[in-house]
Amino acid sequence: MLGTASASYQIEGAVAEDGRGPSIWDTFSHTPGKIEDGTNGDKACDHYYRWWEDVELMKKLGVNAYRFSISWSRILPKGRGKINNKGLQFYSNLVDALLEAGITPFATLYHFDLPQALQDEGGGWLRRGIVDDFEAYTDAVSVELGDRVKHWTTINEPWELAWQGYVTGEDAPGLRLGNDAALKASHNIMLAHGAAVRTLRDNSQGAELGIVLHLNMVEPASDHPEALAAAHRWELCQNRWYMDALYREGYPSEMVKLFGRDAPEVIPGDMEQIHEQIDFLGVNNYRRSVVAAGNDLPPVNMRRVSPPGEYTEMGWEVHPEGLYKILKWVHANYPVPRVYVTENGASFIDAMTPDGKIHDVRRVAYLRDHIENAHRAMREGVPLKGYFAWSTMDNFEWAYGFSRRFGVVYIDFETQRRTIKDSGRFLSKVAKTIRR
Ligand code: FCB
Repeated sequence: MLGTASASYQIEGAVAEDGRGPSIWDTFSHTPGKIEDGTNGDKACDHYYRWWEDVELMKKLGVNAYRFSISWSRILPKGRGKINNKGLQFYSNLVDALLEAGITPFATLYHFDLPQALQDEGGGWLRRGIVDDFEAYTDAVSVELGDRVKHWTTINEPWELAWQGYVTGEDAPGLRLGNDAALKASHNIMLAHGAAVRTLRDNSQGAELGIVLHLNMVEPASDHPEALAAAHRWELCQNRWYMDALYREGYPSEMVKLFGRDAPEVIPGDMEQIHEQIDFLGVNNYRRSVVAAGNDLPPVNMRRVSPPGEYTEMGWEVHPEGLYKILKWVHANYPVPRVYVTENGASFIDAMTPDGKIHDVRRVAYLRDHIENAHRAMREGVPLKGYFAWSTMDNFEWAYGFSRRFGVVYIDFETQRRTIKDSGRFLSKVAKTIRR
C-alpha cells in the first residue's frame, strides 16, 4: 500500500457547518498566543467542500491508499447523543469516491480533535467515562462505514495527546498539569482504544484494526552513563509505555516505579482491554531522538540533543536510517504481525517558480531516502504492509498554523489552488513501480 495521509481538523475547514460541534482545536486555535502565526483551522484546505477535487488529485498521484481521520464532533456535535447525519454522510461520500477511484480508505477515528463538550465535562481524557463515549462514537461511525472501510486505526499518537495536551500545554487542550494527568489521560486513551477495537470487530467484518503510535529510535547522545540512562528512560516513556501495554504484560514496571504516585490507577480488566488483539501497528516517524540527561519532563529528566546534520523547518533532524531502525526495533521486540508507516514526511519552505511548479528537491530526497529505508527493513523481515507520506497537501500544522508545509501537493491558501509538487510526482513514480 502506498498512500498519503491527513487529519480532519488540519484540512477540512467548515467548522460550524452542517451541524458540526466545536472541538478542542477550535477553542485552542482561537485562544490568542497559542498558534505561532495566529491562524486557525476555520477554513484550512476547505476540504469539506473540495473533497471531490482532492480525491481526483490522489487519483492523479496514483496512490492506492488514503489515510484520513474522522471528526468526532461532526458525527456527535456534543460528543455523545444524537448523531449528526450530515457529518456521517460527508465521510460516506468520501469513502465511496475513494473506492470508486481504486484508493483504499484507511480511517482514523481520533486525530487530536476532541469535542469541546467532552473537554468541558471532567477534563476530556481525564474522565474515565470518556471510554464509553468513544465506544459509542466508534459504533456510530462503524455502523455506517464498516461495510466499506476495511482498515481502521483507533487513535493517533497517544503520547502526544496526553503529554502535549495535558502537561506541556503545546497542543489542545493546552493544559499544564502534572504527570499524573498525562498518565491518567494516557490510560483512558488506551482503554478507549481497546473498547473501540471490540466495537469495530462487530461492525466491520474482516477489517484490519490497529492504533497509531509516534515512535522514534532513541539514541544516547554519548556513552556517558547519565546519557545512557536518560535515553533509556525516554524510550520507556515514549515508546515502551504504549508498546508494553499493547503487546506485553502492562506498563513497564521500571517506569511505573519512577512515576510513583503519578502512575495511573489500573483496575482489574484494564490491561486485558488494552491488550485486545489488533492486526497491525501504525508507526508515525519523522526523526530519531538523540537524548542526554537534562531537566525536561521530570522524572524522565532528559533533553534532546541536535547532532550536526540536516534539519527540516520543524527543527527535526533528517536521519532516514532512523526509520529503518525503529521498524527493526518494533519487529525485534514485539509480536507485531503487520506494520504500516502511517506518517512520514518533512516540512521545508516551498516556493512556486516562474514555471508554475514547486521543485521541492529536499522533500523528494527525504521521501526517497525514507522509503528506501522502509524497504530495507521490509527486505530484512519486518512485516511492513504500507507507507503513507505526510501529507497529502499542505495544511494547518497544529500549533505552527500554516507556517509549516508538509504536503506533496502545494496549496495557495488565498485561492485554495492545488498544485502537485515534485515530491508528489516522485510518489507517483514510486506508486507505478509498486504496481508493476
Ligand atoms: C504528527 C501528527 C500529524 C502532523 C505531523 C507533522 O505528530 O500526527 O497530524 O502534524 O506530526
